[in-house]
Amino acid sequence: MGKDTFYLTTPIYYVNDKPHIGHAYTTILGDVLSRCHRLLGEPTHFLTGTDEHGQKVEQAAKRNGVSPLEHCNTYVKRFQELWERLGISNDDFIRTTEERHIIVVQKILQDLWDRQLIYQADYEGWYCVGCERYFTEKDLNNGHCPDCGRTVDKLVEKNYFFKMSQFQQQLIDHINAHPRFLMPLNRRQETLGFLKQPLGDLCISRAKSRLSWGIELPFDHDYVTYVWFDALVNYISAVGYLADDAEFNTWWPASYHLIGKDILTTHAVYWPTMLMAMNLPLPETIFAHGWWLTPPPPTAQADNAQATAAGVKMSKSLGNVVNPMDMADKYGVDALRYFLMAAMALGQDANFSEEAFVTRFNADLANNLGNLLSRATKMIEKNCEGKLPSATEPGADEQELIASVQNAVASMRNAIENMQLDRGIAEVMVAANATNRYFDTMKPWVLAKAGDTAALGRVLRNTAEALRIIAGLLYPVMPNKMTELRRLLGVPEERVTPVMNQLEHWNQLPDGATIGTLATPLFPRIDLAK
Ligand code: ME8
Ligand code: MG
Repeated sequence: MGKDTFYLTTPIYYVNDKPHIGHAYTTILGDVLSRCHRLLGEPTHFLTGTDEHGQKVEQAAKRNGVSPLEHCNTYVKRFQELWERLGISNDDFIRTTEERHIIVVQKILQDLWDRQLIYQADYEGWYCVGCERYFTEKDLNNGHCPDCGRTVDKLVEKNYFFKMSQFQQQLIDHINAHPRFLMPLNRRQETLGFLKQPLGDLCISRAKSRLSWGIELPFDHDYVTYVWFDALVNYISAVGYLADDAEFNTWWPASYHLIGKDILTTHAVYWPTMLMAMNLPLPETIFAHGWWLTPPPPTAQADNAQATAAGVKMSKSLGNVVNPMDMADKYGVDALRYFLMAAMALGQDANFSEEAFVTRFNADLANNLGNLLSRATKMIEKNCEGKLPSATEPGADEQELIASVQNAVASMRNAIENMQLDRGIAEVMVAANATNRYFDTMKPWVLAKAGDTAALGRVLRNTAEALRIIAGLLYPVMPNKMTELRRLLGVPEERVTPVMNQLEHWNQLPDGATIGTLATPLFPRIDLAK
């Protein structure tokens, strides 16, 4: 199987508005997966960025009374500041207005034009400004955009087309031969279903008379490039395609393109056929996750394509967004990261509400994990002069505890491999529960009263070992809090960032290590009433 490096991308987000929870979700997911793969010792490259051309951005700039580039320069900061705040460990950030990107897009266009994979023809169709997509008559939903429900405009003009149709069978064959190419399974089936119809060619140009904010076609200066054709190229322009072969060969093909299900077709059909035309290998996996929904507003339009029985897609255009900065300020960055990763079954939709957030925070982080840590460290402080009791051979009392923690390690590995992070996290919480149960069953406070220091030391030591492993497993999700936790347990500074292959071994903490105590709980319980 492929290369031994790990290259993961997020979508590059439009800079027409501020980022919301949906954008934060994909980027945090990318961050967690990248951190997981780094812990597994794989050379990792994690890319995110912004999609800065096209009509949406041009219109947003107009509304704000500034030039498109000025608009981008302002809005890109909101994304960059948010990623900084959320502890996103991206290795690169690409903006499609950067020279390194524009040059590559133009070289690709020129090459495809020279090889007649791009041709000129008249175009007739319906255009949705919101989605920046053309639709045929039969695509329309009662004369409206089938995706967002807006009104569409009729257009006839000369345009340039990419011979996408030519690659239809090759794409179908590729999908059939590579079960992991499109994930999860329902997205693979959706794409194969879409490909049952004859695939048309893709209009890749926009007349400057209507839209000038884009990358100029190298072979016709009256046109700019369709924003999707431009945007998708970021995944290769950012890693040195046509600029730095060594860099490019190190990372390409990508291990994962993470996307939301809203942009499946562009990634599962347009992009692979573009790569085929360029004679480049396809990414290993395109993974489309579900949507964060909010409860339908009282005035919800019943025919809104983005509304489901469960709720409405959180989106800028619908104005029902939750600001991730606010959530991070209110509850902490790691708590937000935890909630987003734990509460959405990867691939499915999920409802976002503050109540659900608080309920899960209290159950998993305050009552389960945080409480365990407080109890263990307090007892070590009080009974062992704050020094970690020495390791002993685990016995019959520890069997269930160790089995549960090792099951969590195995589940997490499996979850990373199969894109089921929420399930891995759930197993870690099962292990935290088992550790609480061990603590309760062994009653160290009774042992302390009875003066049985040997038995007391054994219980506290084993609890600390379980906590070390649990914190290691949750480190990719909550890097700050879990680093703090591991430090409190006396993990030496050079090992405070966990290594997956060493994590599961028992008795790794140094005997007699100084155990920290907490002035305030790691995860103070939240009272929703307040
Ligand atoms: O589509 N729930 O950018 P975009 C979950 N520029 N994820 C959500 C979400 C929600 N409610 N709303 C948005 C674009 N997302 C293009 C991409 S890539 C070459 C070009 C996330 O700003 C999700 O990842 O509209 C979705 O695919 C992406 O934001 C769309 O961001
Ligand atoms: Mg969108």
